[in-house]
Order: sequence, then C-alpha cells, then structure tokens
Amino acid sequence: MQTIGVLAPKGGVGKTTVSIHTAIKALESGRKVAIMDTDYPQGSMTKLCQSRSSDDLIYLNPTTHNLDKAFKQARDEAVDLVIIDGTPKTSHNFQHYAPYCDLILSPMRTSRQDREAVGDTLSVIPMSVYDRLYFLLNHSRPKRKGVENTKTQQVREFLTANDLRVCPVALTGLTDYEDSLEFNQTVTEYNPKGTAATEINELWHWIVEELNNGKES
Ligand SMILES: Nc1ncnc2c1ncn2[C@@H]1O[C@H](COP(=O)(O)OP(=O)(O)O)[C@@H](O)[C@H]1O
Ligand SMILES: [Mg+2]
Repeated sequence: MQTIGVLAPKGGVGKTTVSIHTAIKALESGRKVAIMDTDYPQGSMTKLCQSRSSDDLIYLNPTTHNLDKAFKQARDEAVDLVIIDGTPKTSHNFQHYAPYCDLILSPMRTSRQDREAVGDTLSVIPMSVYDRLYFLLNHSRPKRKGVENTKTQQVREFLTANDLRVCPVALTGLTDYEDSLEFNQTVTEYNPKGTAATEINELWHWIVEELNNGKES
C-alpha cells in the first residue's frame, strides 16, 4: 500500500482538485483506492466523490488521534493507494499526515504570496519527509507552443535553487478544472482532448513513476 498526501498550508491552491483527479486516475488504472478527507465532515472531497456513486472508493475519515487505525483498516481492506486531501488548518495536520506519505504533493500558485508562503510550508513539514515533497505549480499561465510560460519557469527555478523539488508537470489555470466537477466528472472524462486532460494524464504518469521509485510501505 502506498500513500499520497496532497498538503499545503493555504486554501484554494488546488488540493482537492489534485486529490480527486489522482483518485479517479488511480481507480481507472485498476487500483483499490481510499481517500482520507482531512476536512471531514465539511470536506468537499468526500462530497465530490460521493456524488460519483459508481466509484468503488473507500472513505477514511479519522481524527489525527486514530490515524494508525485508519491505515490498518486500509491495509486490511487491501487498499493499494491512500490519497490524503489536506486541509490548510495548521502545522498540526502536516506533522500528523506527512510521515505516512510516500509522496507529498504541495500545490501552489506562482504568485508572490504563494512564493512567500513556501517558507511556511517548510517550517511545518518535518525535515525527515523533505525528500518525498514536491511542489506542484497550479493555476499556472498557459504554455505557448509547448513551452512553459516564463513566470512558471521562474518559480520552478526559484524553488529548485532553494533545493526544493518541483513536479515536472504544472497545471494550467483552465475552466475545465472547475466546470468538470459541476457534472461530477474529472477533466479527462469531461473534455478528454483538452489541455487539462493532457496535464492530468501526464501528472498521473509521473506519479506512477515516483511511486514505483519509492519503497512499498
Ligand atoms: N488549474 C486550475 N484551473 C482553474 N481552476 C482551478 C484549478 N485548480 C483548482 N481550481 C479551482 O480553484 C478552486 C479551489 O480549488 P480547490 O482544489 O478546492 O483548492 P483547495 O482544496 O486547496 O482549497 C476550485 O473552484 C477549483 O475548481
Ligand atoms: Mg480542499
């Protein structure tokens, strides 16, 4: 069993969007998937997933005090992949959830505020999990002729210059991400030939490679 944490100390950066798209791609690939909505019971991840009644997802909604039990339940149910949709609450969450993760994706925008918040992210993530942490640039400006926008490149360079890892796939700010969910769909279902669908397919490929490079826990 492996665990992906989608964690960031900021709201509106795309944690739930990345979580649900990853969960559905994992289901499509034949994996048994559990989601942990750390915002439960108000969490939009649970609501979005439950409105897709055909999916065979397992819901884990533990408090931070019974995480071991929840992961044991997932193992007992032969889950292949747990996806944690983080909440921007506090360092508390990072400190509790990050150690369980084989891979941590931390979505961020490319704005000045988001760049300045990177320090906050680092100050709340235990150093022992730094090597599993990747920033994921979201809401980025569109590529032109397949070339990443200068702003996206600059933020990527800013992070790597500070010895931080960045997911090679950036997600563009596109209406498909919002509109698809109106129809209880992900972007690959809603507009399979669109740019958002291409990005999500690339992101999933990269995630599979990363998980294969890591050890099973
Ligand atoms: N790449 C994107 N392009 C356009 N809209 C996006 C993108 N990523 C997320 N959104 C939208 O931004 C809003 C916040 O995203 P969400 O995933 O809920 O963030 P978080 O879980 O971090 O609070 C949602 O309305 C979502 O549809
Ligand atoms: Mg959310």
